[in-house]
Amino acid sequence: MSIRYIEETGQLILETRSTSYQMKIDSLGYLNHLYYGPKVETTDMSYPYRIYDHGFSGNPYDMRNNRAFSLDSMPQEYTSFGVGDFRVSSIAASCSDGSRCAEFRYEKHEIIDGKYSIPGLPSVYDSGAVAQTLIVTLIDNAANIRIKLYYGVFESLDIITRAAEISNAGYEIVWLRKASSMCLELPFGKWDMIHFHGRHCMERQPERVPLFHGIHTLSSGRGMSSHQHNPFVILCDHEATEDSGTCYGMMLMYSGNHKTEIELDQFDSTRVVMGLSDDRFRWELAPNTSLHTPEVILTCADGLTELSHRYHRVIRNNVVRGAYKLSHRPVLINNWEAMYFDLNEEKLLALADKAASLGIELFVLDDGWFKNRVDDNAALGDWVPDEKKLPNGLDSLIEKINAKGMKFGLWVEPEMVSEDSDLYRAHPDWALTAPNRAPMMARNQLVLDLSRQEVHEYIFNTLSDLLSKYNITYIKWDFNRPLSDVYSRSTPSPRQGEVAHRYYLSLYKIYERLTEKFPNVLFEGCAGGGGRFDAGMLHYAPQIWCSDNTDPISRLTIQYGTSFGYPMSSVGAHVSATPNHQTGRLTPLSTRGIVAMSGAFGYELDLLKLSDGELAEIKEQVARFKEIEPIVHNGLFYRLSSMQESGHYFAWQFVSPEKDRSLVNIVVTNPLANSTPIHVRLKGLDPDALYSVDGEFECSGSALMKAGYTFTRLTGDYPALQVDIKQVK
Ligand code: DGJ
Repeated sequence: MSIRYIEETGQLILETRSTSYQMKIDSLGYLNHLYYGPKVETTDMSYPYRIYDHGFSGNPYDMRNNRAFSLDSMPQEYTSFGVGDFRVSSIAASCSDGSRCAEFRYEKHEIIDGKYSIPGLPSVYDSGAVAQTLIVTLIDNAANIRIKLYYGVFESLDIITRAAEISNAGYEIVWLRKASSMCLELPFGKWDMIHFHGRHCMERQPERVPLFHGIHTLSSGRGMSSHQHNPFVILCDHEATEDSGTCYGMMLMYSGNHKTEIELDQFDSTRVVMGLSDDRFRWELAPNTSLHTPEVILTCADGLTELSHRYHRVIRNNVVRGAYKLSHRPVLINNWEAMYFDLNEEKLLALADKAASLGIELFVLDDGWFKNRVDDNAALGDWVPDEKKLPNGLDSLIEKINAKGMKFGLWVEPEMVSEDSDLYRAHPDWALTAPNRAPMMARNQLVLDLSRQEVHEYIFNTLSDLLSKYNITYIKWDFNRPLSDVYSRSTPSPRQGEVAHRYYLSLYKIYERLTEKFPNVLFEGCAGGGGRFDAGMLHYAPQIWCSDNTDPISRLTIQYGTSFGYPMSSVGAHVSATPNHQTGRLTPLSTRGIVAMSGAFGYELDLLKLSDGELAEIKEQVARFKEIEPIVHNGLFYRLSSMQESGHYFAWQFVSPEKDRSLVNIVVTNPLANSTPIHVRLKGLDPDALYSVDGEFECSGSALMKAGYTFTRLTGDYPALQVDIKQVK
């Protein structure tokens, strides 16, 4: 049993293989947080808390003679609001009588087998790993708000999930103003925060800073999980490294506006509140209705590598779904960087022809294939093939590509509309725009109001028709601007604060309906590259275009940062042209190949411009990837260098689940004259096994891990190497 209730003490205990989580219902019914961390035996974890008058911290009325009892210093599972806990709160609301306070106390709990799911939202599912669910119900009878706290415990995966359901238990409307998924208290310890910030073309750059007193906010109000702040954060010991040190991971499974607040308070206690952003949020909670929050995926691991392994495992096995979950992902060629909008059937077929001859399996037709789409100023919304560019029709193009032995994939940006489109001319009110205000334009396009049922149906039907009519096995689902002017013409004005979240409920439902109807289609998420790279999207799209920056040297930091939370099978990565279109940098084809082969692999360049030598090299890369894909996608990933420390190179390693094969990769970003050799300690091998190292020499796993491996000297511009290590005994 991974969840237990000890009645005498009021303890609720969650246990995974190597972690313990404890909470306690106290004598007044407050649900106190006691502990989350490395596994402890069944001890009542209230012993570290010394209860004394904290000074200038108020006391609940029931405890007015006990100045030591204060919500302002008590660690809690989910906070009250407006009643004397002055730290960041999990929830805020305006109650029907106008009051803005509530104090939640325990009502009941239940423990059930299996993992709960969340109506309308993506969540981690139970797939062979036996999970249990705890639901603790809290209530405030004056505010008439009931909260159900959900805990999913995946014992063997060392994962705990959390979510909340907030409901109106009264007879009048309650206006919710903040609805977080969880509050996690770390009352003791000093922590570094690692977060993943960025921008377009430079997503998920890791930054590690020690927490200081105050509130650190990581959030996105852009209507997308964003290039700027990924909804994932790690708190770790100051001394934590890849290999050791307590590390907490918190990942929100949501693609819209999110917020994480981390407060280091006056008593050196740390509180993390994570969930929907409260920026412009206001939700009408009618009597007997509830709002479900998105899910947080939590783990506590010894070292950053172990933390990443747990996220990789749970995302691969219990988040991603469908036919491509763990199976071969076709090596693709995407025509975008090869021709942008300047495409036609002849050029596409010539590219497909070359690609097929190199063993590439999937041809992806990117932006520009539909009528009037001559550039990015027009036509979004009118998903009809352009007869000028494709005079024989899309069907005929697909047939010809299929005849070359390749599958066909198509780019769409279904959530958007151009002003210059038939769709907008027919339904200007379908776009998100505020009354009497010219909207912000981005890429000269507007966002469709997915919260409207007609728009929901239009998008579903459009995609469903495309997928039914044509032989399409892959969809690249793009999203190229943030949400602004968020106002829905079909929502009454007091409820406009719901639209941004309703947008995502509708989007998830479209994805759900489509993946159900077309189970064999591979969806790749995209948002101007990796602007919506999150666990919510990965529930529907097993891979996400990681960045519009295809420069392998920029990709090193982008993929390094992404690897902390997300498996490499989810990282869309392509070999592109040199000089690179985003940075102008020149890099060897072998380096581009090694970097792209560490993800969901493909090509995105004009193969017709390449020499015979380059084409031959690509042919080898394609064959190589097909052979190593199971290790790259389903093996264990190790970061061998740290962005902060190694300086002039990046090294990383894949190890097969059986430990019988490993690939060690290095890219030297700044070869130094007469430099010291680059030496790394390998990881994850079987210490007792004998390995052949690139066929060069044989060596034990223990030697490679303890004494390490020295790379041959690499010179030139951005050289790279992939060392193949195979078990021989
Ligand atoms: C942004 C994407 O990230 C690119 O890969 C490409 O599909 C363009 N949009 C097309 O407009």
